[in-house]
Amino acid sequence: MSAQPNIVLIGCGKMGGALLQGWLDQNIDANFSVIEPHDIPITKITHHKTIEAGAEDLKSAALIVLAVKPQTMAALCTDIKNHINEDTTILSIAAGQSLTSFSEYFAPTQPVIRAMPNTPAAIGKGMSVAVANKHTSQSAKTLAETLLKTAGKFEWTDDESLLDAVTALSGSGPAYVFYLIEMLEKAGNKVGLPIEMAATLARQTVIGAAALAETQSETPAKTLRENVTSPGGTTAAALEILMNGRAQDLFNEALQAATTRSRELNS
Ligand SMILES: NC(=O)c1ccc[n+]([C@@H]2O[C@H](COP(=O)([O-])OP(=O)(O)OC[C@H]3O[C@@H](n4cnc5c(N)ncnc54)[C@H](OP(=O)(O)O)[C@@H]3O)[C@@H](O)[C@H]2O)c1
Repeated sequence: MSAQPNIVLIGCGKMGGALLQGWLDQNIDANFSVIEPHDIPITKITHHKTIEAGAEDLKSAALIVLAVKPQTMAALCTDIKNHINEDTTILSIAAGQSLTSFSEYFAPTQPVIRAMPNTPAAIGKGMSVAVANKHTSQSAKTLAETLLKTAGKFEWTDDESLLDAVTALSGSGPAYVFYLIEMLEKAGNKVGLPIEMAATLARQTVIGAAALAETQSETPAKTLRENVTSPGGTTAAALEILMNGRAQDLFNEALQAATTRSRELNS
């Protein structure tokens, strides 16, 4: 692969935009261009509003990143099929779109990498997991890995069936944490705090706890929790409610629902 591969990002919304911002911030050694119908806040790269306008870039691309909604993926792939080379690597970040579905959209031997990042990618704190099909070269895998590592932590898997559960946990997970902040905020207000104060305390508590978990990354979450829970104390009183209630059951059900939805998106 040349020193400066051409990379085309199709779809520069929340996730595509977050990834692109990270690639530009970290000066990845590549030529980036974007195909996206709406205006984008980034000016220092080539931006095409239609596939036809970006056709030349698609032809010369070493890697094409597909970051449109799963529901529009089939139509997009049909639109770009005749503009891309059969050896160009496709990197999809769409939920629920399997490697097999891409081998049906494109040539059966098209190199395809399926990845699942998450939105903290915008600030380099993301979590991505990827699987590559057997037609993907080592150099294309290295390029995709470089791109996804700028977004935070990254892991390869050989087992594509895990991707639906990855989507349910880390792909959708930031929303669960934002919901936790909302719930803490409301509960803080109910025990007497003014709502603005409850909001500040809730948000900063999650930020602080996450930062502690990051600095003590070798310590299991259970130990971190036990370290701040004195027997008979206030934290123990609250945790008894959460643990004897249905908190774990609810998370089990929530992740199952997201996993099922990810599978449905591919059917
Ligand atoms: N958001 C997340 O937390 C997250 C996490 C992990 C993975 N993902 C995956 O990332 C993908 C994108 O999600 P998102 O949340 O970033 O969606 P989004 O904000 O809607 O961004 C998608 C963008 O692609 C544009 N687009 C649609 N069709 C196009 C086409 N034919 N050519 C060029 N651009 C086109 C859309 O324009 P229109 O709005 O006009 O259609 C939109 O601006 C999804 O497949 C999702 O599963 C998202």
